Amino acid sequence: MQKRYGKIVGYGVFTPEQVVTNFDLEKQWDTSNDWIVQRSGIHERRFASADEPTHVLAAKAAESALEQAGLEATDLDLIIVGTCLTEYFTPSVACLVQAAIGANHIPAYDISAGCTGFIYSLSTAYQFIETGAFKRILVIGAENITRFLDKGDRSTAILFGDAAGAVIIEATDEPCGLHGFMLGSDGSDQDVIRMNTSSDRGNFDEGHYILFQGQRVFKFASRVLGKACNQALEHAGLTLDDVDWIIPHQANVRIIQSAARDMGISIDRFMINIDKYGNTSSASIPLALYEGLESGKIKPTDTVMMVAFGAGLTWGAAVLQLAPKPAEAALEPKTEIAVPAD
Ligand code: UT7
Repeated sequence: MQKRYGKIVGYGVFTPEQVVTNFDLEKQWDTSNDWIVQRSGIHERRFASADEPTHVLAAKAAESALEQAGLEATDLDLIIVGTCLTEYFTPSVACLVQAAIGANHIPAYDISAGCTGFIYSLSTAYQFIETGAFKRILVIGAENITRFLDKGDRSTAILFGDAAGAVIIEATDEPCGLHGFMLGSDGSDQDVIRMNTSSDRGNFDEGHYILFQGQRVFKFASRVLGKACNQALEHAGLTLDDVDWIIPHQANVRIIQSAARDMGISIDRFMINIDKYGNTSSASIPLALYEGLESGKIKPTDTVMMVAFGAGLTWGAAVLQLAPKPAEAALEPKTEIAVPAD
């Protein structure tokens, strides 16, 4: 059977309208713009409204990706959503998206891997494309996380924002797509980032908040990002020189700086937009990809390295060429050198 590849034919995002700046937070909590900027690199983030649960954010990002691709929802074969803090234990966000966008009765499911959810979902999608099982897959990273913030815990409450991002991967015979990836987990560190369950939807009692040990996450993340990239590159048989952009999970700009130092490369090779959106968990990578593509920094045929870490603990990296390069222009026939006649 001919080898199959996957190209990204559409990408889209949805970010809620309400912008919350550090100065807004200063008025509510014992914090300051200076502290937040220096310790995290965040200037502002978006808060979803009460009528924007996770599946609404996800469906809006999906619609934006479909429009950008010039496709209908009925063109899709599979929906995978990376998300971890949803309104319902069941049904999945993906099933709600299937109904909201009017897709056919195609398979739809969520992957819960903390902030690594998008990379877990994307890597899974490419397996289905490469085996020929599905031709067009919608992959979403969506999180409405700010409902779960303990407003009394200033070190967690300032970090997060809500958003969703989506890509559509389509099968092609032209070489491109996922060159290599790695996924990891270590459940023995389950308490480092955690949210306990609540039996009453929407009514979060004390303790039903996202809790984490900031310093431990920071150290783990700084250590794991470079390692994950190297393992994905090794799997791909590539080096960092083959990568145009690194798109890291946007958790803290100091974690990204530390990863850049660790990998011995310039911070300028990383797509960073944490200043505008904060940590949007599974949505942060598709959101940064979208911004990179829209601004023209990332070219549609670039090779990018996506890398993330999150609750579980989980981590993962994927190196992929977004789309095939256009065929080389046919070589001009060599001009004959006229030999002067004697
Ligand atoms: O996506 C995965 C989810 N988790 C993460 O991304 C978290 C990763 N960790 C981090 O980003 C950082 O650890 C934080 C930004 C959460 C905290 O930064 P830090 O440099 O590790 O600060 P710290 O927790 O060591 O706190 C330093 C000081 C403390 O005061 P004292 O004890 O030195 O007097 C804190 O009480 O800063 C204080 N502090 C604050 N001050 C003003 C903590 N939060 C705040 C705040 N505003 N919001």
